Amino acid sequence: MDAIKISEKVYWVGAIDWNIRDFHGYSTLRGTTYNAYLILGPKPTLIDTVKEAFHDEMMSRIKSVINPSDIKIIISNHAEMDHSGSLPKCVREIKPQEIYTSTLGLKHIDLQLHENMNIKTVKTGDSVDIGGDKITFYESRMLHWPDSMVSFLESEGILFSNDIFGMHFATNKIFDDEVPEHEWIYEAVKYYSNIIMPYSDIALKFLDFVKTSGLLAKVKIIAPDHGLIWRKNPARMVELYARFAAQKPGNKALVVYDTMWGSTGKLAEQVADGLTQEGVRVKLMSLHNAHRSDVATELLDAGAIILGSPVINSALFPSLGDILFYLRGLKKKYLVGAAFGSYGWAGAPIDELTKYLEDMKVEIVCPALKVCFVPTEKDLRAALDLGRAVGARLTEKLK
Ligand code: FEO
Repeated sequence: MDAIKISEKVYWVGAIDWNIRDFHGYSTLRGTTYNAYLILGPKPTLIDTVKEAFHDEMMSRIKSVINPSDIKIIISNHAEMDHSGSLPKCVREIKPQEIYTSTLGLKHIDLQLHENMNIKTVKTGDSVDIGGDKITFYESRMLHWPDSMVSFLESEGILFSNDIFGMHFATNKIFDDEVPEHEWIYEAVKYYSNIIMPYSDIALKFLDFVKTSGLLAKVKIIAPDHGLIWRKNPARMVELYARFAAQKPGNKALVVYDTMWGSTGKLAEQVADGLTQEGVRVKLMSLHNAHRSDVATELLDAGAIILGSPVINSALFPSLGDILFYLRGLKKKYLVGAAFGSYGWAGAPIDELTKYLEDMKVEIVCPALKVCFVPTEKDLRAALDLGRAVGARLTEKLK
């Protein structure tokens, strides 16, 4: 397998994971890549490694350019094992003179890989000389782990941005100008929503830092660790991130529900109709079919969320538990919402939906609608009214 040249001195030497469909609970229907980069020069330098299972693919790409034992420096921007997993094997095979990571990177690498690799630590503003060229480091804590950092190759204006500006998208054409935007845009939104969204305030500060410090003006290529490399239009990705991080609520509502015998499903359709009557764009998402990571993706530009659940064994339906735990961690801002559901003899669990929404800082528009068994015409009208009430509040909020 061959390396791909991305600039005068830099090659992509990563791996393509065409078949992964579950990335720690995130559905990756288009697979992913683990991007690693090789900088040639007097001190050849490897930026990041790959998931351990893809070590041989990365080494094969490195060997298409140089003898791996010629590599003198390894830089680890992030300790998560999709980028550090093959680091111990690399260290054993390459025997680099120096390895660099952030202070917390060292801690996290030690705690995960349990190998003494004689790693040096760097902090924001530190640089290393790679033989005529200079790499400068910027910590990007909590984007998305405490150890995360980015590295900047000054001479070629390449920002190795690790997970930031990345997406899960398997491709053998690795540049933004080689793949039409309609093929990758959903994956960009999905990656942000599922990986970076909880840290949106930090992302905004980071974007501000790269702009005001003058770093962004020097960036010619953004080379993240997943998906496409931004060489034609790096500003487009920065612009998208600023938009994503702002979490501006849109005229869009998610109705997320599950159903046992169809009653909660009937209520969900009425809720959607009520929102439609108020002029709101609706996504009706049955948890029979919708994956949690796609619900999260749709939530990024939404302004409202309405949850519906049946009651089983005096509790919410299990799929609602899954989505509530997941969404609560993602901390989407600026939502209004409400809850509804059908029960047989004890409706109290449906109120728990409202409590979870409150925990998520969702503005509750009205009390939960609880319907005993199969909804009557009156119940269906109440569901329609609930949708209308949430739609009206969203419309008012967006004025
Ligand atoms: Fe792609 Fe946080 O690892």
